[in-house]
Order: sequence, then C-alpha cells, then structure tokens
Amino acid sequence: MRNVTQDNITDVFKGYMAEGMDPRLREIMGALVQHLHDFARETKLTHAEWQQGIAFLEGCAAIETEDRHEFVLASDVLGLSSLVDMINSRSDATSSSVLGPFHVSGAPPLEVGGDMKRNFGGPVLLAEGVIRDTDGNPIPGAEIDIWQTAPNGLYASQDEAQDTFSFHGLMNVGDDGRYAFTTVKPVEYTVPTDGPVGGILNACGRHPWRPSHLHFIVKAPGFRSLVTEVFPDDDPYLDQDTVFGVREDLVMHYVEKNAADFPEGMALSGTVTDPWLSVQFDVTLAKETG
Ligand code: BEZ
Ligand code: FE
Repeated sequence: MRNVTQDNITDVFKGYMAEGMDPRLREIMGALVQHLHDFARETKLTHAEWQQGIAFLEGCAAIETEDRHEFVLASDVLGLSSLVDMINSRSDATSSSVLGPFHVSGAPPLEVGGDMKRNFGGPVLLAEGVIRDTDGNPIPGAEIDIWQTAPNGLYASQDEAQDTFSFHGLMNVGDDGRYAFTTVKPVEYTVPTDGPVGGILNACGRHPWRPSHLHFIVKAPGFRSLVTEVFPDDDPYLDQDTVFGVREDLVMHYVEKNAADFPEGMALSGTVTDPWLSVQFDVTLAKETG
C-alpha cells in the first residue's frame, strides 16, 4: 500500500502480516497495534509526547539487570500485571496476586512449625493454614515458597545487611496439608522509585506504597500453581496498593494473642515472651486441566 492514511494505517499493518504466521500471534499483534493506533489517534499524540514515551522505555532498558526489572515494575504500576493475573485466575481457587521482582529460586527448606524471624526484632507473627483442593480436601505434600521483607521494608536482594535468603523459605506440608511458620509481621513498603517508573508515579501524583504482605507460591502435582499474597485487614494501604494486588479473599485478620498462649511444637515454642500475632490463611488450589 503506497497511499497510507491516518484512517487506513491500522488495516495496512494487519495486511502486512503473512498468511501463514502463527494465528495467536496474528491476533495479539493485530489487537495491540489496533489499540496503539487508536490511542495515538484519540489523544492526537504529539512528536514530543511520543519521544517522551520512547525515552521512558529506553530509561527502563538502561537500568534493567538480573535483579532490577523496571519493565515488570512498569507493568505492575500500570495494572497490567494484575489484570493478566485476574484474567488467568480460576474462580474456584484462591485468588492469585502479583509475583513482584523479589522472589528468588533456591530458598532454604523450612520445616512445618519452623521460624523465619530468627534474631530480627518486631512482633512475632505465626502464619498457618491448610492447602486444600476445590472439594475442601487437604493436599498432602504441597510445596509453599514463602518470602517477605525484613522489618526495614527491604527484601534480602535489596539489602546488603541481610543474607541472600533471609525471610525466604520453602516448606513441604504433611499429609494434613497444614503449613505453619513464625516470622516478623511484614511492614508496608514502597516499590523502587529511583528509575523511570518512579518518575511516572510522581508525574501522576501517585504514591509508591504497597500494603504489608507475605508472598506465597503454592505448588502440588496435578494442581495449577498459585502465586499469591496475604494482607492484614488493618493496613492503611489496602485500598490503594500501587500495584493493584489486593483481593478480598487475601485480606485476613491478624489476631493478637498472649505469650502464654503460644502453641507447642513450633521452633519458637517456649521463647515467646511478648504478645504475638496469629493469621490463619487457607489456600485452595484448582486441578490442572488439559
Ligand atoms: C512485591 O510485592 O514484592 C512487589 C510487587 C510489584 C512490584 C514491586 C514489588
Ligand atoms: Fe512484596
């Protein structure tokens, strides 16, 4: 096509794609370019604004490393990561939530009843629950990969003062599907703001805070793996998570209990002298289909 116009350029683009190309890629590229072109037409995008967009992408690429995923962060604060999560969630399972950039593979094993708090200060939190199938039966041997921030609001990979795997643990549940571990109550924290994504948040008058949370990846053979989080119901940022990760079924009440009521059989049993917090968070996994 030599007479390309504002009105036909989208169809011209679609016509340039080869007949024999992968049909799903054709669908995705066609829809992507349709929306991109509509966006430019609708907003009457100027050259300067287009250049700003390109500079943003180049800025993300410039700081991208193995430990710094600015493009993923951009997707997170634009709500795209959460939207993809929700589109692909099963309604009969526990809701999924953002993975975020701070998961690390190879976390050390954590026994049921084990402790992630170690010698860090802050309120003891006992997190426990049962991993079940959609009929309510426990899933023996399910695996839970757990991670969270230290009391300073930093993940181990962001903080040279912490061991690589501090506040990371990998637990295999027993036949009763039950998990339990102690930790420090997580704190709210900000997503990284020293890159181009921080600039966008600032320009939009948005804050960078996430409500406090524990991250879980729950896996079991024959079931769909679940990436999720659990939030306390009194967190000030629950209704304004900057990465849109909060779902109603992931918000739990953390109950304050007396030291004397700390249960037997935990790594910290007999050592807890202050009031502590308890959260019960059961997880439902959906069967893998197809
Ligand atoms: C997190 O919860 O670890 C996280 C999620 C999205 C962006 C940044 C951090
Ligand atoms: Fe997090």
